[in-house]
Amino acid sequence: WFGHVEPAAKDPILGVTEAFLADPSPDKVNVGVGAYRDDNGRPVVLECVREAERRVAGNANMEYLPMGGSVKMIEESLKLSYGEDSEFIRDKRIAAVQALSGTGACRLFADFQKRFLPDSQIYIPTPTWANHHNIWRDARVPQRTFSYYHPESRGLDFAGLMDDVKNAPDGSFFLLHACAHNPTGVDPSEEQWREISFQFKAKKHFPFFDMAYQGFASGDPERDAKAIRIFLEDGHQIGCAQSYAKNMGLYGQRAGCLSILCDDEMQAVAVKSQLQQIARPMYSNPPLHGALIVSTILSDPELKNLWLKEVKGMADRIIGMRKALKENLERLGSPLSWEHITNQIGMFCYSGMTPEQVDRLTSEFHIYMTRNGRISMAGVTTGNVAYLANAIHEVTKP
Ligand code: LMR
Repeated sequence: WFGHVEPAAKDPILGVTEAFLADPSPDKVNVGVGAYRDDNGRPVVLECVREAERRVAGNANMEYLPMGGSVKMIEESLKLSYGEDSEFIRDKRIAAVQALSGTGACRLFADFQKRFLPDSQIYIPTPTWANHHNIWRDARVPQRTFSYYHPESRGLDFAGLMDDVKNAPDGSFFLLHACAHNPTGVDPSEEQWREISFQFKAKKHFPFFDMAYQGFASGDPERDAKAIRIFLEDGHQIGCAQSYAKNMGLYGQRAGCLSILCDDEMQAVAVKSQLQQIARPMYSNPPLHGALIVSTILSDPELKNLWLKEVKGMADRIIGMRKALKENLERLGSPLSWEHITNQIGMFCYSGMTPEQVDRLTSEFHIYMTRNGRISMAGVTTGNVAYLANAIHEVTKP
């Protein structure tokens, strides 16, 4: 039956973790997957999560959630993305369902897009998170790309981006990273977001925000929702994928939310019912435990404050490691500019290293990262930063 099945290509991100785990070297370093580590390189369970687990342990049952997921978790998620006092929440204009983290939210949206706008395409930034391509491919939505990153400046290609937005057919779908762009660590400034929003309005484009790193750009989830708030102020209808993998450290719980801002409450009810109908044959209803943790934390002012402190702590440790990596490279006498390590934000540094240089890091130094040169700064620690800098210096020497 299955003799014709060839092995699939390794995943460019999760395949790195597999290779790292298989390496017996005591020196090995994993700066591949975007998953936060403490300064000892260990995974972190946030204190607010531990406390929420204590609180839900006694009274939770194991019943199914509704097809659309936990109502309380969705309510809290919308406050985080649209704003505590959002008129859109008040007017019940948002169709929202709990999703299997950010990936699941994007996939639900892509399937919805295919089902109800079968002739539409999606514009995806170059570069983007590799899985975005898989998601819209499997939903059979044709993909186009738009300019985003400027390799020479290692910053935003704003002119290219604006040209591509202008040249796309009116009414196109665009995938935007709400903050802490993955993999580049490069975000538009507030002023640039305003210009992008203005141009989207003129072209009647639909912005779909993937917000996987809310809190990791500035250390403050509220500030990191700025791009979305600008688009909302400008009167756009938007879509939004939220994930609690990174900002609550709930990676394996698959806790997230998909929301679509509609014209009115009636439309929102219809859209939500269709999203549920897409979810039902795929997974019936989303997982319970992560949703309980999220809603417990966000609905309790004390736990929410603790969470905000802990998110800031994670973001600050990463900023510290950016400085340390740059200083180490400069101390080693690298003639190259490493300014971008500290200019870029969020969890990643888009180093500019070539796939061949990355291969050398892995084969000679047991350092594991994606071949596009992305370093997950969350995997850098006081203990490995000098080793990492030295290896980078060795493979990038002119
Ligand atoms: C990453 O980009 O490393 C993370 O989003 C993990 C993943 O699923 O790819």
